[in-house]
Amino acid sequence: MKYLIYTVLLFSFLVACKQTVKTPVKEKHRGLMTQKAMVVSARIEASKIGNDILKKGGNAFDAMVATELALAVAFPFAGNLGGGGFMVYRQANGETGAIDYREKAPMAATKNMYLDKNGNVIPEKSTLGALAIGVPGTVAGVFEVHKKLGSLPMETILNPVIALAKKGVLVTEKQAKSLAHYQPLFKKVNKDSILFNTHWKANDTIKYNSLAETLERILKEGKDGFYKGETAKTLAKFIQDNGGLITEEDLANYEAKWRDPISFNYDDLKIISMSPPSSGGVCLAQIMKMIEPFPIDDYGHNSEKTIQVITEAERRAYADRSFYLGDPDFVNIPIKTLIKEDYLGGRMNDFSFEKATLSNDVSHGNMTIIESDETTHYSIVDQFGNAISATTTLNGAYGSKLYCAELGFFLNNEMDDFSSKPGEPNMFGLIGAEANSIAPQKRMLSSMTPTIVEKNGKLFMSVGTPGGSTIITSVLQTILNVHEFDMSMQEAVNAPRFHHQWLPDEIRMEPNAFDKTIIENLKKRGYSINQKDSPIIGKVDGILVLEDNTLEGGADYRGDDTAVGF
Ligand code: GLY
Repeated sequence: MKYLIYTVLLFSFLVACKQTVKTPVKEKHRGLMTQKAMVVSARIEASKIGNDILKKGGNAFDAMVATELALAVAFPFAGNLGGGGFMVYRQANGETGAIDYREKAPMAATKNMYLDKNGNVIPEKSTLGALAIGVPGTVAGVFEVHKKLGSLPMETILNPVIALAKKGVLVTEKQAKSLAHYQPLFKKVNKDSILFNTHWKANDTIKYNSLAETLERILKEGKDGFYKGETAKTLAKFIQDNGGLITEEDLANYEAKWRDPISFNYDDLKIISMSPPSSGGVCLAQIMKMIEPFPIDDYGHNSEKTIQVITEAERRAYADRSFYLGDPDFVNIPIKTLIKEDYLGGRMNDFSFEKATLSNDVSHGNMTIIESDETTHYSIVDQFGNAISATTTLNGAYGSKLYCAELGFFLNNEMDDFSSKPGEPNMFGLIGAEANSIAPQKRMLSSMTPTIVEKNGKLFMSVGTPGGSTIITSVLQTILNVHEFDMSMQEAVNAPRFHHQWLPDEIRMEPNAFDKTIIENLKKRGYSINQKDSPIIGKVDGILVLEDNTLEGGADYRGDDTAVGF
């Protein structure tokens, strides 16, 4: 009995201890929290305009049109009328879809247009100036989205954007630096003096009057206000006068396309991401499926083992990307096989924690990685439960650097996303194969990865980022940071990132952000570490839906990105 009493007392004591001695729970650093709706984008002006549209009763698709076009005004670095992009959506009823408003090669484009007579790539021909331009898709994209899914009149959506262009936009510290940095290239490419040749300082206001006029024509005439009539005539003539190929017919023929997104499961998540001609969804699926069997939550965030597993999965996915992916309207892509578990399980068979796998022996020169922060992403969740995730781009910073002063916008250099010569790297160091070779009216392969995540059948996250080839791996790490490492949306966005893309065979890391011992150990295992070429990797923007349906925004401090909501 006495023994029994002692036992009961001991048990009660242990239960009491368990109840009172709690493991301290780390307070999460959260981004903006709102109850109903949110827009997160690269500029506060664009987020505000998108948010105002939601407040007027518009849905996420109306806000998408407003935000996309407001970025074309407020963020000429990547926001655009002269570029293209992709959007993935999930409606409140769970229906998902995607739209491709990617640029296309002009009809006069040829496979070897960037090669000299000896078959060598001519430097800068696919990146600077008029020959680098693909037929822009953005205006067609937003009109298609509005037609199918929008609810407010286009006038209500476009008027605030036009007003912003007329009123002007404040130059931020980061923008002033970026404009100063690219000014020599603006001068090199443009025959005439352009708006951006001025020495703009932080807190100056830039007014975009020609862009406002172009937007007014678009409002009046719809999609045709860009692809036909006065704008198309001016644009085609301007591009041709500068040595480019795009004709009025190219513009008139452009159409955005609805695509089925790539969907796959990872643990209890369902990931919905962009399908070809973006490699984003396929690559993300491959990497996540290769990682899934490993307990990376036990290994720890940015630990040696986690970095190894992710790196090795990325290496294998990017190797497949190079060989198989291109425009699905031109090449057959074995998508189902590429993201099948048994195929991917086999891909990791030769991985060992002891030693790095070596990327294929490809004989080519040094690969240059010029920039890591082009393109721009925005995420929107509306008060009705619809969500969109959209990434839009001019490709390089300010695209081809060719600025049409009469129409008020930069033109893309998206042609560089084709593989000019199989085996030869593009500006992101990505190697392409035949599947991504140039052909008239073909879309160039992209890495853009606008993504929506469901958890237990409910909307969980909208996420994406700029960053060229690093887009896919930045989106990946942000999802894993929340799901595997229990971070808030803002913490997941802020966390240091790394990247591997098969070739060049190196792990790029944001500098001074990773444990020195881990870096040394990785080097000992045969990994080459590059901390100098990418001061930042990606500028991720996302929205997380918490269990009580509160929205949390993650706006990347690496840029001027801002969440606005209500
Ligand atoms: N131009 C960057 C991308 O499409 O991936």
